[in-house]
Amino acid sequence: MLRIAVFVSGRGSNLKAILNHPELSNLIKIVAVFSDKTECGAFDIARSYSIETHVIGKGENKIDQSDLLKVLKNYNLNLIVLAGYLKLIPIDVVKYFENRIINIHPALLPSFGGKGMYGMKVHDAVFNSSAKVSGATVHFVDAEYDKGKIIAQRCVDISDVSSPEDIAERVLKIEHQLLPEVIKAFAENRVKIVDNRVVIKT
Ligand code: GAR
Repeated sequence: MLRIAVFVSGRGSNLKAILNHPELSNLIKIVAVFSDKTECGAFDIARSYSIETHVIGKGENKIDQSDLLKVLKNYNLNLIVLAGYLKLIPIDVVKYFENRIINIHPALLPSFGGKGMYGMKVHDAVFNSSAKVSGATVHFVDAEYDKGKIIAQRCVDISDVSSPEDIAERVLKIEHQLLPEVIKAFAENRVKIVDNRVVIKT
């Protein structure tokens, strides 16, 4: 069983897609969900599956960023999944979990990424660029926003959309397929780095 912690900031539809994926139920266990928000939709989903939740931040009953690594180590994790988590991961955590933290981004990196590019801001930028394709990217997390090596991408035609919301809807559908597929590949030990490129073995 691949032991996973999921980091979230919002409604949690990607978390739900992972939890509901039939091919993952025997391969992975989500042991904890972390958020920078005190309450969010993703926490409600986690609680409905009896998964432990933690708030990262300053104050009572919260995990300070400086204590995060210690808490994560206690879970004996194999993988950390950022599913709509909007904060930077502390550098000690990035280093300790090198090539074991992945993020889903709602566009085709390296375009439309970086600090401040999250959620609808991404889709607004894609819409305003008049791009004809968008998609989802799953990549390794390093010290910078959206800069780590790309693990998997999937495109969607957006040539006929009439709003950023249309793009968001099409991309989200792809995210809900791509992220579970990549997690399955990790669980089956098929994600490899060969000649400095990430490949998923079939
Ligand atoms: C998803 O579209 C995810 O790709 C995006 O936030 C949304 C979270 O939705 N992440 C980013 O923009 C990161 N830069 P969800 O809470 O329903 O999974």
